[in-house]
Amino acid sequence: MISHSPLLSQPLSHFLHLLLLPLFFTSVASQCKNPPIIFNFGDSNSDTGGLVAGLGFPVNLPNGRTFFHRSTGRLSDGRLLIDFLCFGNFVTDEGLRNALYIIDIGQNDIDDSFSKKMSYAQVTKRIPSVILEIENVVKVLYNQGGRKFWIHNTGPLGCLPQKLALVQKKDLDPIGCISDYNSAARIFNEGLRRSCERMKSQFSGATIVYVDIYSIKYDLIANSSKYGFLSPLTACCSSGGPPYNYDIRVTCGRPGYQVCNEGSRYVSWDGIC
Ligand SMILES: *[C@@H]1O[C@H](CO)[C@@H](O)[C@H](O)[C@H]1NC(C)=O
Repeated sequence: MISHSPLLSQPLSHFLHLLLLPLFFTSVASQCKNPPIIFNFGDSNSDTGGLVAGLGFPVNLPNGRTFFHRSTGRLSDGRLLIDFLCFGNFVTDEGLRNALYIIDIGQNDIDDSFSKKMSYAQVTKRIPSVILEIENVVKVLYNQGGRKFWIHNTGPLGCLPQKLALVQKKDLDPIGCISDYNSAARIFNEGLRRSCERMKSQFSGATIVYVDIYSIKYDLIANSSKYGFLSPLTACCSSGGPPYNYDIRVTCGRPGYQVCNEGSRYVSWDGIC
């Protein structure tokens, strides 16, 4: 996630937002017999070390504490969704064609607009250009032989402890998330869903799956006790205490941070993802 990095709070074009982190391909040891190749184009929700390797952004323990027992560069206490998939290591023309391309982009773009103090109308006006960039990237991959695409929509941005803690004037929805942040995320998602439909009809022979991450996460938060979470809008690792436990000056892994005992009982690890 670009917003993790002070380096990246400097102005960046859409193009960079979309392409900077995605250039870091993820590789994880395979546990499968015939592992498919996966290229992941995404932010810190799926970054297994790109931010560290590419930009030197410090990611310290307790990131990594539950599974790897050291920081791997993942902005998480354990594994990411992508770690539960299996990976192949050899890229040939055939491999490119059979590979799965995962795209998880959007959160930082919407976030970036809001953090530049754009009005809601300005934020939503910028959305189609972001979706068009994603469509262009898929087209490039398709033209190079890619046929299998998993396109994640963006999660409920307005439920992130970081946003809840930092945004001053906020209109909260019934579950306590920032309404206009979530509504911008849903507008992005609706545009992305339509774009996936367009791509399905244009890119013959391609399989394009639109994955509704938003609904999954929103359900986890809305029905958090059913799933065994404690307070779903509180970060496990940062500082500042309830209700959100997020302080931009003392984020996870920085001197003075506080971390919960059981990360698995929190929807948000560090307030940002
Ligand atoms: C919460 O759970 C109920 C019952 O399973 C379900 O009907 C509802 O859609 C869930 N809420 C959200 C926001 O997903």
